[in-house]
Amino acid sequence: MVELLDVSNLSISFTQYVRGLQQRELKVISDLSLNVNEGEVVAILGSSGSGKSLLAHAILGILPDNATCYGDISFKGKILTEDDKKEMRGKNICLIPQSVNYLDPLMRVSQQAIGKTKDEQDYKCKKTHQRDVFSKYGLDESVDDMYPFELSGGMARKVLLSTALLSNPELLVADEPTPGLDAKSVEETIKDIRKLAEDGKGVLLITHDIEVAIRTANRIAIFYSGYVIEINKAENFKNADNLMHPYSKALIDALPDNGFKLTEGTQPLKEETGCIYYKNCSLRKAICKDTKPLLQNVGDNKVRCHLYSEEEYDET
Ligand SMILES: Nc1ncnc2c1ncn2[C@@H]1O[C@H](COP(=O)(O)OP(=O)(O)OP(=O)(O)O)[C@@H](O)[C@H]1O
Ligand SMILES: [Mg+2]
Repeated sequence: MVELLDVSNLSISFTQYVRGLQQRELKVISDLSLNVNEGEVVAILGSSGSGKSLLAHAILGILPDNATCYGDISFKGKILTEDDKKEMRGKNICLIPQSVNYLDPLMRVSQQAIGKTKDEQDYKCKKTHQRDVFSKYGLDESVDDMYPFELSGGMARKVLLSTALLSNPELLVADEPTPGLDAKSVEETIKDIRKLAEDGKGVLLITHDIEVAIRTANRIAIFYSGYVIEINKAENFKNADNLMHPYSKALIDALPDNGFKLTEGTQPLKEETGCIYYKNCSLRKAICKDTKPLLQNVGDNKVRCHLYSEEEYDET
């Protein structure tokens, strides 16, 4: 298995001003590690505000200026500098952004999708390819000459998706590619993402939609308050008993098919001293209050929970 992307101990924080000029660090991603291998789709599942888009932006090197970022992001074994990320953006590594505001308002959409071309021959080839991909997503020829303001939300989403697919990247970071799409386009998206993986590419798929994640991904990483709390095989998410972290289990139990068993509580906004799930966890132990669990291997999977940490578990 060849590793394409490796994110190692990534932390992202923002400086906030509280009461006049007093500053405070707001940590939104903490000690995040995950990887994507060639031929693999890894989905990231997490609630709103858990730091998913920031992770995508850190990989692409487009974090806002007020963000402070620590940790390493490697591509094919090489730690990327911000210059490397700029160089690879739109070529080796592509982003399907969550917001349609990423489209250039002054450029016709087909032009944006085709990008730079070497000569007439190259243009013709890319134009044909662009038309094929657009029509697959139900965008007819009249859309080619439109400007972004003329598109509906769903059309704009499809243009972003097609643009990324046309670049044929080695790694695709897809930030919520399916909301607002019709059922047929969701199926096409899943198929295209799977095809990239079958062609040996890697995909990091960020989504709220657990069904899409299970059907598309090889592995799923669960985000909770800026931490990865579990990484497990996608097929294990079909049944809560196959998962390890109490939050992952609760997430699956809350699905309509599993009887909507909702858990109480919200994700903490500020850094807790112990486990971030401590307050909401029904299986908490004394150690969980003040000691942060580390993300550790359990077989091929990973979990951040004291229940799986033998040494610490024995002490309690
Ligand atoms: N420029 C910024 N300045 C300060 N805080 C920010 C900034 N951008 C994001 N944040 C904070 O970082 C947190 C994570 O944001 P992010 O956009 O990554 O969430 P997300 O998981 O993608 O959410 P969603 O599912 O709604 O897209 C949010 O709580 C947000 O308040
Ligand atoms: Mg987001």
